Amino acid sequence: MKLFIDTGSVAEVEEIARWGVLAGATTNPSLLAKEDGEPEEIIRRIADLVDGPTSAEVVSEDADGMVAEGVALRGLDERIVVKVPFCAAGLEATSRLADLGHPVNMTLVFSAPQAILAAEAGATYISSFLGRLDDIGMDSAESLAEIVAAVRDNSTGAQVLAASIRNPIHVTTSATLGADVATVPGKILRQMLAHPLTTSGIDQFTADWQTRPEFAVWLKGLVDRSGATA
Ligand code: G3P
Repeated sequence: MKLFIDTGSVAEVEEIARWGVLAGATTNPSLLAKEDGEPEEIIRRIADLVDGPTSAEVVSEDADGMVAEGVALRGLDERIVVKVPFCAAGLEATSRLADLGHPVNMTLVFSAPQAILAAEAGATYISSFLGRLDDIGMDSAESLAEIVAAVRDNSTGAQVLAASIRNPIHVTTSATLGADVATVPGKILRQMLAHPLTTSGIDQFTADWQTRPEFAVWLKGLVDRSGATA
């Protein structure tokens, strides 16, 4: 499963892109509205930082407007994926944009029937929301499993992109259920790092190493001799 970062924060992408785990990014109008700075510069910068598919969302409510906005957004960077909300106009826009060769991420998908329509319309990615289903007491894992099963064997090549990720368990569930991508907020990516046994294990390695100070001298000499620079 590929990991995208779900954010409008350039600083957050700068921090986490250094980990070497990001294959792309997704933005949306709410995420961009929270940020200072111009959306064009933010979108371009994020696409550069992840050097992969970066979703930028249209806001028009009619297909013609969605197509026009999508083509314009694609002009910002070849890595831009046009994000289109799921609805009848969105299906038409997705079909027209796909016919023009533009990749589309259909978003706000909550059910397998919706995902089937998005795939048949030509979506490259289908953003299947988890957290917002949990928020209303529905079983997001059951929904995602149905979407993966419904889309997996079709001939469209559409990828299931798990979205609305609220915790590390959502990421694990997305991977084990077969989602192709999970788009994860920076806060959750940082939570994925944490485990108390990892922290205590590193602390113990450090403490034990420090009981043999001559080892530190050896390792520094090895680094110096190798010409490697820290
Ligand atoms: O960006 C799409 C989706 O990941 C947003 O999720 O529910 O946290 O707003 P949410």
